[in-house]
Amino acid sequence: MTRVLSGIQPTGEVHLGNYLGALRQWAIDQHDADAFYCAVDLHAVTVQQDPAHLRVSTLGTMATLISVGLDPAVCTLFVQSHVPQHTELSWLLECTVSLGELRRMTQFKDKSARAESGEEAGQGGDHVSAGLFTYPALMAADILIYDADRVPVGDDQRQHLELTRDVAQRFNSRYGDTFVIPDAAIPTVGARVMDLQNPTAKMSKSAESPQGSVGIFDDPADISRKFARAVTDSESEVRYDPDQKPGVSNLLSILGAATGRSPADAAEGYHQYGALKSDTADAIVALLEPIAAKKAELDADPAELARIIAAGADKAEAVASVTLARAKEAMGFLPKSLETEARVPMR
Ligand code: TRP
Repeated sequence: MTRVLSGIQPTGEVHLGNYLGALRQWAIDQHDADAFYCAVDLHAVTVQQDPAHLRVSTLGTMATLISVGLDPAVCTLFVQSHVPQHTELSWLLECTVSLGELRRMTQFKDKSARAESGEEAGQGGDHVSAGLFTYPALMAADILIYDADRVPVGDDQRQHLELTRDVAQRFNSRYGDTFVIPDAAIPTVGARVMDLQNPTAKMSKSAESPQGSVGIFDDPADISRKFARAVTDSESEVRYDPDQKPGVSNLLSILGAATGRSPADAAEGYHQYGALKSDTADAIVALLEPIAAKKAELDADPAELARIIAAGADKAEAVASVTLARAKEAMGFLPKSLETEARVPMR
């Protein structure tokens, strides 16, 4: 069976863009593949995090992943830092990747430039951590340690996936077949949700105006208000045309995604923006309602959530430890006991 792996940073509330663009697909994939999903808290600390906040948001992210339909009985759902093999493999990969390769990563260039200009307020000022630089090696470890065949990620992670493939290929050619070479699975443009106030930018939790981003746990009145105020244009024609009509097209993408149609088909029958906005809001409210209900259930039973998280870590570790042993053996590390000396086979 195909193995799928993906990760999400546990640093804030999940919004509609995360849900329609990624998490909803994760929930579908879990039924057709052997799926591993994690909250990547080790990646979160590449920029300074408030400890109490990190703890709460990691827990909240796990509850959210379950609420959007990831079923711990079907997939393997875990917190990255609970599986220490990720960091150990990350070191081995750091010794395989070159400085030049890491320096070419556009996400590092962007994030470090922003930190140095002091824009990341509250995240350590102009401090750029070494972890921010080696971030892609840890991400490669996340993927390779599960022998993942397919990695669903946003377009912004494409370069990290390419690097993961290069690192795996290099390792395999130096030390013998050890890692599965993963493919990126980038969602189609239709699922790309833009900011409601600034429809040429992706919806994001750090946007200028909070009115542009819809949290999946926003209350229905807020959701309706945000859609009612969504930026459109001065015409009145409802037509899917992302270049000329980014605001209207974004509403059509969202309505289409919520109702299982293409954005162009979703335009059918609309002659004015008001109806489009209110129908889109209603469709999203209906889509999110069961997710909020599931979240309330989990919030009411913290012991159950803790059990799920612990069991997920055990399931993940059972797989990760085998791959790590294989990689260490291939590189020539001395086994601690003779029993583990036998070659650990590849999946
Ligand atoms: N870097 C990814 C992001 O910011 C998160 C991530 C970490 C990830 N490890 C991963 C995604 C492994 C896919 C696979 O979105």
